[in-house]
Amino acid sequence: MDRPLTIALSKGRILKETLPLLKSAGIEMLEDPEKSRKLVFETTRPDVRIIILRATDVPPYVQYGAADIGVAGKDVLMEHGAAGIYEPLDLDIARCKLMVAAPVDAAPVAGRLKVATKFVNIARRYFAASGRQADVIKLYGAMELAPIVGLADRIVDVVDTGNTLRANGLEPTELIAYVSSRLIVNRASMKTRHRDIQRIVDLLSAAVEARK
Ligand code: ADP
Ligand code: PRP
Ligand code: MG
Repeated sequence: MDRPLTIALSKGRILKETLPLLKSAGIEMLEDPEKSRKLVFETTRPDVRIIILRATDVPPYVQYGAADIGVAGKDVLMEHGAAGIYEPLDLDIARCKLMVAAPVDAAPVAGRLKVATKFVNIARRYFAASGRQADVIKLYGAMELAPIVGLADRIVDVVDTGNTLRANGLEPTELIAYVSSRLIVNRASMKTRHRDIQRIVDLLSAAVEARK
């Protein structure tokens, strides 16, 4: 048998929302990864395994072919870039918006803007495209804290309900992109294992449509 078809997921909302879709495609995990320290999991299909990664590590695993398939947020894909990655399906899960946010009623900033974010490539591109000078500071989480303590004037982060911004005295000011999670496939796998992968894409696509 070939190497098992490897699907890369991340814990939390992507795992929770992807598992029911995979179930419709006949793939179920034999163990609950939220309750295990393991990183590689067998499924009800002997030829399919699931690996659990950090959300930001899913694109490189798929790009370099260590995983054939993955699920990643559009935000993470925009930040990583699309080299070697095919994006056949919008799973319409983990929906949110990539936004610029500022302290409530913040005055305009004269001169260079300080922007804190984990999405440094997206932020640099976005401010450059609108001709604004920005110094982008890379953070790994809790971006909302940065304006409170004077690290930055603005943040770029994902927003869903807006509760996190409000709780920290911030408000969204600009929409950068609508975000949902996407099925991604390694470009070489898409050719070498076309039949297997296309079948999974078709079944997932039907499951996504059935929910609309
Ligand atoms: P991380 O540990 O990297 O924060 P998450 O599971 O929180 O991973 O996020 C995974 C993806 O879900 C993100 O890339 C984004 O597309 C989306 N997402 C993040 N936060 C929210 C949210 N509050 N509501 C809906 N979707 C979200
Ligand atoms: C995400 C994101 C924001 C928040 C936005 O955090 O980083 O902080 O959700 O959602 P809201 O607009 O509904 O408040 P998450 O819940 O993923 O926690 P994390 O810090 O562990 O990533
Ligand atoms: Mg998160």
